[in-house]
Amino acid sequence: MSDFHDQVVVITGATSGIGRATARAFTAAGARVLGAGRHQGRLAELAREVDLALTVDVTEPRDVELLRTVAMDRYGRVDVLVNNAGAGLFERWDATSPDQLRALLEVNLVGAQRVAQALVPGMVERGSGHLVQVASIAGKRGFERQTAYCATKHALIGWSEALRQELHGSGVKVHVICPPAVDTPFFATAGWPEIATQHRRWRPMSAEAVAAAILDAIRKDQREVILSPRAKALHLASRLTPQALDRARERWAKPKS
Ligand SMILES: NC(=O)c1ccc[n+]([C@@H]2O[C@H](COP(=O)([O-])OP(=O)(O)OC[C@H]3O[C@@H](n4cnc5c(N)ncnc54)[C@H](OP(=O)(O)O)[C@@H]3O)[C@@H](O)[C@H]2O)c1
Repeated sequence: MSDFHDQVVVITGATSGIGRATARAFTAAGARVLGAGRHQGRLAELAREVDLALTVDVTEPRDVELLRTVAMDRYGRVDVLVNNAGAGLFERWDATSPDQLRALLEVNLVGAQRVAQALVPGMVERGSGHLVQVASIAGKRGFERQTAYCATKHALIGWSEALRQELHGSGVKVHVICPPAVDTPFFATAGWPEIATQHRRWRPMSAEAVAAAILDAIRKDQREVILSPRAKALHLASRLTPQALDRARERWAKPKS
């Protein structure tokens, strides 16, 4: 019997990339997956792979309330919530308007809180459950041309760490996943396809590898997972020798004469 047999798993942003791979991985491990997303064509494809596919825009309170109602009516409980829905914005700081920053926060932070507020209280009531927050290495370190995106992912990690303390003793675990570049449509959707080519040189992870790490984080009760040795080294250097890392970055970014 698979280790997630009969577990009820809700995944936001399940129509593409990491969310889609995670939906498949949980389904293969025996879970009943409710996958949520917005794109109707991809939702129809998802519906063939999971127990239920539902239209949910995480910025729409009514959609999230419907998600809660459907999950409770159909399953009576949610064991795992994967807060994965997210978007990117890759402009320099002076080309990013306050409205753009606000809109990105609405998806990457407020949306995650909204879905958690809809589903985590039921876990607390039952005294068990897992909240998986798909953050990013960009939530651990700032990267140029990503001020808004890094801000939202830093905020998501801070929010999750504080929530973990508030949930201490409730039986609900909070897991934060920090992938480096992953081979998905993410950068192209955000209008920066060139960076995907650059990332390809750095060998991006597959969405399937991130999905496997998400299942493992629950199995092994890991509070935070920084994926890939390179991202781990970057995170460590950023904490121990931030100035040296800045200098190396400046040298690397300097146009070759
Ligand atoms: N790719 C990377 O390099 C990378 C690295 C680190 C972390 N991440 C994070 O991983 C997560 C998934 O990204 P991905 O790489 O798999 O990108 P992706 O392939 O572009 O998928 C993004 C998913 O989020 C959904 N989504 C976006 N806005 C939404 C909204 N307002 N409401 C509901 N769903 C929404 C999309 O749904 P629809 O298409 O149906 O609209 C899609 O299913 C994001 O949180 C991202 O920040 C990605």
